[in-house]
Amino acid sequence: MIVNFTLNGKQVSYKVHPGESLFEVLRKEGNFEVKGDNCRDGSCGACTVLLDGVPVPSCTILIGKVEGREVETVKTLGEAPNLHPIQRAFLEKGGVQCGYCTPGMLLVVKALLSRNPDPTPEEIREELSGNICRCTGYIQQIESVERAVEILRGEVDEKL
Ligand code: FES
Ligand code: FES
Repeated sequence: MIVNFTLNGKQVSYKVHPGESLFEVLRKEGNFEVKGDNCRDGSCGACTVLLDGVPVPSCTILIGKVEGREVETVKTLGEAPNLHPIQRAFLEKGGVQCGYCTPGMLLVVKALLSRNPDPTPEEIREELSGNICRCTGYIQQIESVERAVEILRGEVDEKL
């Protein structure tokens, strides 16, 4: 079957097998910024993308459900040297270490800050609870989100 959807603002059409997940199709089509091939049951968050603006584990979404919808990967934020304030904040505060969990986490934070521009540490922790990080202990990521809030408010120099 053919599936049509918007990927990072561009219309795409892919030939797929109905049993494939969104994760499998994205990776097959070269979108290697989507991490995963990990739990494959929605419990680690590594493969998170935004589907119509809502974070979802792409390994749990059958590709047929994506028809006509809008998918965003971390590339929707920015790429060096033009990083999004959330990406800059994660680099500055050590929220990125090995980077495996980072693409999914950044998308969760993007969705959080778009509906709640000034979250409490508890709200940030709750929001990130579906994204497992084996490196940081999560403190750096909470600080990164707080830094992103400051940058987005224009309270600090955006440049690293
Ligand atoms: S690989 Fe999709 S949530 Fe873990
Ligand atoms: S930075 Fe390594 S898993 Fe999160």
